[in-house]
Amino acid sequence: MSSEPFKNVCLLPQTNQLTGLYTIIRDKNTVRSDFVFYSDRIIRLLVEEGLNHLPVIPKTVATHTGEDFSGVGFKGKICGVSIVRAGESMEQGLRDCCRSVRIGKILIQRDEETAIPKLFYEKLPDDISERYVFLLDPMLATGGSAIIATDVLIKRGVKPERIFFLNLICCKEGIDNYHRAHPDVKIVTGCIDKGLNEQKYLVPGLGDFGDRYYCI
Ligand code: URA
Repeated sequence: MSSEPFKNVCLLPQTNQLTGLYTIIRDKNTVRSDFVFYSDRIIRLLVEEGLNHLPVIPKTVATHTGEDFSGVGFKGKICGVSIVRAGESMEQGLRDCCRSVRIGKILIQRDEETAIPKLFYEKLPDDISERYVFLLDPMLATGGSAIIATDVLIKRGVKPERIFFLNLICCKEGIDNYHRAHPDVKIVTGCIDKGLNEQKYLVPGLGDFGDRYYCI
């Protein structure tokens, strides 16, 4: 599906290469080690795409040939914030691109009595309001957890335009719910699926991402 009807959604180019990676991770017969390896490749692409959206300033450097090169330098600091547990799978991909990047964590779980998602824990860099934030959660299904996580970031002073929500798979319902709450956050995704099933899993999806990434 194209991202054209969606404002503030950046969909990775749907190349054969990317479709091949998704074919592997969606396959229910893919073993865990391959699931991790190929998910990590997609995560790397999402992080690289997220970085493309950050502002730069002109920067000229002297090269070894005696000539100058007129390039750019990154402006501003970034950090990652993962939604525990599945979002933690995306931390290494961010570290691979941004050495010694600060990473915060947010834990959201369903309240046992009401089944409503609830904030249980947050640990964020003190200066997060001065940073661009990559919010990490691999599956944007209903958007409930991501909305709460983004509320937390905004309460901590992060401007919505400085938040980039990176996920591997999303769907229209999740995008609409999330953007109803946070229209100015850019969603960076690799795939827009058909929808959600009765259990609120993405379809065709890939099942439970956290279980497949972390469990043997
Ligand atoms: N979380 C998952 O792991 N999978 C889904 O399909 C939806 C949410």
